[in-house]
Amino acid sequence: MSVGIEEMAFYTPALSLDMVDLAKARHEEPDKYTIGIGQTTQSVQPNYEDVVTMGVNAAMTFIDRVDREAIEMLLFATESSVDNSKSGAIFAKNFLGLKDAIRAIEMKQACYAGTFALMQAKDFVTLHPDKKVLVIASDIARYGLKTPGEVTQGAGAVAMLISADPKIATINDDTVYMTVDEPDFWRPIDSDIALVDGHQSTDVYKDMFLKLWTRYQAASGLALSDFDGWAFHMPYTKMAKKALDQILPEVDEEKQRLFKERLADAQYYNRHVGNLYTGSLYLSLLSLLGRADGLAAGNRIGLFSFGSGAEVELFSITLTDGFQEVIDDQGLRERLAARRSLSMAEYEAVFRDQRFDSKDEQPTDAPEATNNCQFIGWKGQYRQYRIANK
Ligand code: CAA
Repeated sequence: MSVGIEEMAFYTPALSLDMVDLAKARHEEPDKYTIGIGQTTQSVQPNYEDVVTMGVNAAMTFIDRVDREAIEMLLFATESSVDNSKSGAIFAKNFLGLKDAIRAIEMKQACYAGTFALMQAKDFVTLHPDKKVLVIASDIARYGLKTPGEVTQGAGAVAMLISADPKIATINDDTVYMTVDEPDFWRPIDSDIALVDGHQSTDVYKDMFLKLWTRYQAASGLALSDFDGWAFHMPYTKMAKKALDQILPEVDEEKQRLFKERLADAQYYNRHVGNLYTGSLYLSLLSLLGRADGLAAGNRIGLFSFGSGAEVELFSITLTDGFQEVIDDQGLRERLAARRSLSMAEYEAVFRDQRFDSKDEQPTDAPEATNNCQFIGWKGQYRQYRIANK
C-alpha cells in the first residue's frame, strides 16, 4: 500500500514588498538581497490575516472535492500561534466544515513541525488506510523593521491531504531525523518578532544536512544519483544552495547541471514569497513540481526539513502518474501576480498596524467582499473571524 500526498495547496496574503525597494530604504546594495541572499519579493501580512485564516484559505482550495467524512485528523503546524491555549486546528476544523468526530491539534517546533505532522499523518494512514489526515503548515516570518532578518520575512500556508490515494506523491519509508540543542533562533513568549543569529543558523543548517545525508545513504543504500531533484526548507533561497552545494560533487557534471536547474525551480516561489517557516519546505516542493521540466512519475525527490533550535528530517517522495494535474500551478502563479505591491511607507504602516493586544477591539482592515476567511478583530479578548459559508 502507498501512502502519501493526495492534495496540496498554497495560500499567501494579497500584499507584497519588492526587495529592491527594501534594500534601498535600508541603505544596502539591491544585489545583496536579490543575489547574495536570493529574495526578490516578500508577502506582507495585513492585520486581517493570521495563521488560521491563511491555513483555512489554503485548504479551501481543495476541501470541497474531498470526502470530509474520511478526514479523521487535522494537524496544524505553526510557530506563529494565535492563542497560548486553544489550538488553531479547532478554528480551522470549524471553518472548513469538518466533522466533530475528529482529532484536531496544533504542534510546534520552529519550522520543523509541518514535517512532524506529515510523518504522523503517514503513520496514521498506514494503520487506517480508509482514513485521511489534513495537514496545515501556516506561519508569519516576522523579524522586525530595520533588522538583518527583515529581508527574509514572509507569510503563507500550505495545506496537504495525506491518504492511501497519493495522487501527487508517495512518501517513502526512508526518513532519517536528528535533534540537537542550538540557540540559533527563538521567539520569547512576550515578543511578536523572532530573534535569530542568522549566520549561526546557516552553519547549523548546513552541518545537520550533511550529517543526515551521510546517515540517509548508509540506511537506505541510495546515492545522490538515485534522485531527480530536491526541495528544501528555505529561510532564504541561498541557504538551500549552500546545503546542496556540499554534496553536488558526488554526481557527474550532467547530473550536477540538472540538480542546479531543479534547485532554481524549487527556489522560485520561495524567492517571491519569503520565509513561511513550517510551510517553507512544502512551498519549495510545490515550486519544483509546478515549474520543473521533465519531472515524471516514478521520479524520486529528496526533501530536507529544518527547524531551528534545532531539529531536522531528510526523506524522499516518489511522484505519481498525473501529479501535474493535481497541482494548481496556474492558480498559484495568478495569486502571486495579483498581490498589491506596497510602497515602503505602506509596508511599515501595515507591519506596525497589527492587533496583538487582545483588549484592543478596533476592527481589522478586513475587506468585505471576499470568500476568504478573515480575522476581523477581538471581542471580549476572543478572536472573531468571518468566512462566507459560516
Ligand atoms: N552583491 C551580491 N552579493 C552580495 C552583495 C552584493 N552587493 N553584498 C553581499 N552579498 C552576499 C554576501 O557575500 C553573502 O553571501 P554568502 O552568504 O554566500 O557569503 C550574502 O550576500 C549575505 O551577506 P551577509 O552575510 O553579509 O548578510 P547579513 O549579515 O545581512 O545576513 C542573513 C544575512 C543571515 C540571511 C540575515 O538576513 C538573517 O539573519 N536572516 C534571518 C534568516 C535566518 O537565518 N533564518 C534561519 C532560521 S529561520 C528558519 O526558518 C528556521 C526556523 O526553524 C524558524
